[in-house]
Amino acid sequence: MKHFLRVLTQFFVFLYCKCLWRTLKFVIRKVTGRCELQRICYNNKPGARRTLKIESSLRFSKNELLQSAVSAHPDSVEKTIDDIMTLKKINPDTNPQLGISLQASLFQIVGYRNLVLEVEKLRREPYDCENAEHEEMLLKLWKALRPETPLTGRISKQWCEIGFQGSDPKTDFRGMGLLGLHNLLYFAEHDKAAALQVLHDSLQPKHRPISLGTTSKLSKAEWEKKKFDKAIGYSFAIVGINITDLAYALLVSGALKTHLYNVAPEMPSLAHFQQTFCYLMQEFHKFWTEEDPSDIMEFNHVRAKFHKRVLKQLKNPNMTLCPHFAASDLHLVNL
Ligand SMILES: *[C@@H]1O[C@H](CO)[C@@H](O)[C@H](O)[C@H]1NC(C)=O
Ligand SMILES: *[C@@H]1O[C@H](CO)[C@@H](O)[C@H](O)[C@H]1NC(C)=O
Repeated sequence: MKHFLRVLTQFFVFLYCKCLWRTLKFVIRKVTGRCELQRICYNNKPGARRTLKIESSLRFSKNELLQSAVSAHPDSVEKTIDDIMTLKKINPDTNPQLGISLQASLFQIVGYRNLVLEVEKLRREPYDCENAEHEEMLLKLWKALRPETPLTGRISKQWCEIGFQGSDPKTDFRGMGLLGLHNLLYFAEHDKAAALQVLHDSLQPKHRPISLGTTSKLSKAEWEKKKFDKAIGYSFAIVGINITDLAYALLVSGALKTHLYNVAPEMPSLAHFQQTFCYLMQEFHKFWTEEDPSDIMEFNHVRAKFHKRVLKQLKNPNMTLCPHFAASDLHLVNL
């Protein structure tokens, strides 16, 4: 009975708040002559700050047209915006900027949804050795990472040099399907210097323990440098596939909205996702080195800590996760 009363009270408080909120919106609209969408566009600079608010305003609207706008097909975004303007009785001639702003945000919202579907499709496509395209991508990955060393055969122990587990990489793609291969290849081809550096460092055996005799001869600064110089190595490709999993989780949970709404002027594309992957690989590598784990068994722990840090960064609506090569090219929506 007591429990029932408590639920009932909560229910009425909820209704009351909802009612209060609606009334408040109504009053503000009457006073300012602007609807909520207008106020959001007016008060927030373009990018995640604005688009996230528009998205939640649409999603929680009681109007069906507004609610379904977030799942519109990209081809019908323009028409949807016209309908919203009509519904809200906003004259497009006196408010030309509003339509443009709303449209840019809606493109980002529906683009993100489409990107999730596209990425999911790649993740579900298994690596297939019978498929010439897949095989070609794999060989390209080798060429990009080991330009000086020809592969002795498709099945070869050499694959371990770039961090696969055995002589045939196909089994290593199981978890993430083609998505893992796409990401690794993008990193190797579009951010070559960084990819080669990360690969190089990942192959280094750890320099410690430094014997006491040598330590005493090193200055403190030198010792610090040595300590952070080389962390324990890891398998580059395997970690790349695992960081693909991390990027995928960030995308699917919606956490990447902050970043993508800040960097994609309209629809976020697969290239945006792959650039995010390049950033995550480099950041993870730095993080791993700084954490200085004593063996590879600490991977789970370091990865979880890294994931948490990225999630925290993405809570800031100003955040972008641009790799250095993209940051200068991208027209950041935010700026
Ligand atoms: C990546 O690592 C985490 C933690 O170690 C694990 O839970 C996850 O299944 C791995 N993902 C893949 C695709 O291997
Ligand atoms: C984001 O940027 C705006 C202006 O550029 C600034 O006023 C605001 O404090 C920043 N917010 C955070 C959480 O960093």
